[in-house]
Amino acid sequence: MRLESLADGYRAVIFGASGGIGAAFVQQLRADARCARIYAGARKSASVAGDGVTAFGFDLMAEDSIAAAAQAIAADGPIDLVIVATGMLHSPSQQPEKTIRAVSAAALMTSYAINAVGPLLIAKHMLPLLAKERKAVFGALSARVSSISDNRSGGWHAYRASKAALNMLIRNAAIEARARNREAVLVGLHPGTVDTGMSRPFQAGVPADKLFTPAFAAQSLLGVIDGLTPADSGGLFAWDGQAIAF
Ligand SMILES: NC(=O)c1ccc[n+]([C@@H]2O[C@H](COP(=O)([O-])OP(=O)(O)OC[C@H]3O[C@@H](n4cnc5c(N)ncnc54)[C@H](OP(=O)(O)O)[C@@H]3O)[C@@H](O)[C@H]2O)c1
Repeated sequence: MRLESLADGYRAVIFGASGGIGAAFVQQLRADARCARIYAGARKSASVAGDGVTAFGFDLMAEDSIAAAAQAIAADGPIDLVIVATGMLHSPSQQPEKTIRAVSAAALMTSYAINAVGPLLIAKHMLPLLAKERKAVFGALSARVSSISDNRSGGWHAYRASKAALNMLIRNAAIEARARNREAVLVGLHPGTVDTGMSRPFQAGVPADKLFTPAFAAQSLLGVIDGLTPADSGGLFAWDGQAIAF
């Protein structure tokens, strides 16, 4: 996948490079000769080290760690692409709620912290690093189920609501970013249903041709990113380039 719309020798940062989709983004970018440098961030940075990759550590729950990562990356010059591929649907202590009876304040707060607040803090520290006066993209992995108008099946309260909040925060940041760089594009991205640890417990009813490999999802989304223009900033886009209504 060649990202033709970014500057030749572009520099990219992936937050969540240890995840199924995040790791696939790093692999795809490594294969693009136009990409000069990839910064790959994870809680355990050693897990994402590799050729042509500068690994860094960060935790969404610790703003200092995000600020320190941004400061280190800033020393090398401007950034053309930031992808936030972190997120949480379930954990050993938290399952997506099938009913409002299963809702807990603690689970809601954790989901908001990881899926909405963390990505916004990354935006806070990374947007000043984006290149000016040329196309620069900040994309955060959201999900189709964040769409309020598309919600016909209910459930997954904390995940849906935290991703809907993420969409609003991206739209807000996009409006502000325009004043700094009219070429900047800030978007939410839906990867489709992808075979990773996140979706594994919920794949039973998914037809085989609708369950994507991480490589396919990352490649598709990089194609979408390549086609985005400033007019798309603030929106939510699926793996096939389709805009998703909020
Ligand atoms: N898979 C799907 O079908 C699907 C569908 C729609 C949307 N998405 C979205 O796509 C994104 C990537 O999902 P995935 O399937 O690749 O999930 P995944 O394999 O579970 O990866 C999640 C990533 O988030 C990171 N993360 C979680 N909490 C963190 C924290 N406190 N600090 C730093 N990093 C943290 C994980 O890091 P560790 O390795 O340290 O845990 C991991 O890198 C998510 O936003 C998800 O909501 C996925």
